[in-house]
Amino acid sequence: MIRFNKKKKAADYSGLIDRNNLPKHIGIIMDGNGRWAKKRGLPRSIGHAEGAKAFDKIIDFAGKLGIKVVTCYAFSTENWSRPDDEVAALMSLLLQYLKDGLTKMADKDTKVIIIGDTKGLNEDIKEGIRKIEDSTKDGKSMVLQIALNYGGRQEIISAAQKAAKMAVSGEIKPEDIDDKLLSSLMYNPDVPEPDLIIRPSGEFRLSNFLLWGSAYSELWFSDILWPDFTADDLLKSIYDYQQRSRRFGGI
Ligand code: IPE
Ligand code: IPE
Ligand code: MG
Repeated sequence: MIRFNKKKKAADYSGLIDRNNLPKHIGIIMDGNGRWAKKRGLPRSIGHAEGAKAFDKIIDFAGKLGIKVVTCYAFSTENWSRPDDEVAALMSLLLQYLKDGLTKMADKDTKVIIIGDTKGLNEDIKEGIRKIEDSTKDGKSMVLQIALNYGGRQEIISAAQKAAKMAVSGEIKPEDIDDKLLSSLMYNPDVPEPDLIIRPSGEFRLSNFLLWGSAYSELWFSDILWPDFTADDLLKSIYDYQQRSRRFGGI
């Protein structure tokens, strides 16, 4: 199946995918910017800038295709361990996006939500987040979640802490803590769990992305480095997703 898919021309996928069976929520781990730049003898920051362009194009395309929720991994809780200048370059791109994306996303009727530990971010980024979330809050056509200072474990920890506080205050009993309650305490409980998670760049791991919600997500990996990722690659991933049998533990 994989060989067959590789031989197929990307443009073919547009006609092959079933528009009535699109994944409702796609998660994307935007990885490989650094290697993309290194291959060209360029600084990593250029790779990140190219990655931001790919992000713009893919979000635009996903919206036109009719995908209802997209979550993009922009900065992990572990990415702070990178050199200061790289962290600064990433934060400056993010700030720029929060500013530029504001009218762009409002025009596209897209609701932007930032998931992650936003308390730990700089004041200007926090202000950018408030503005973009506020001005896009009525967006109806798509939800764009940007995972920023995000960690899947931290998301579960924060839900567990909220549940523990509810138990201590007597609002619930410890045994009331179940799948449904914890799900309702995740960063944004209003979106469905991801149906499909895409990881380019040749790595086969989730790197702390959407750990709770990905329990039954379909995973799709590819060697493409994120700045090279195109609309055709997204179509390919959706086509492959539609060939899979999701059983959720059943038969
Ligand atoms: C993804 O690209 C961007 C972030 C993690 C913020 P990388 O910077 O991880 O690129 P590689 O993996 O080094 O190629
Ligand atoms: C995952 O990529 C985080 C983002 C894309 C934001 P990393 O490059 O940080 O992941 P590892 O280190 O390869 O696992
Ligand atoms: Mg990486």
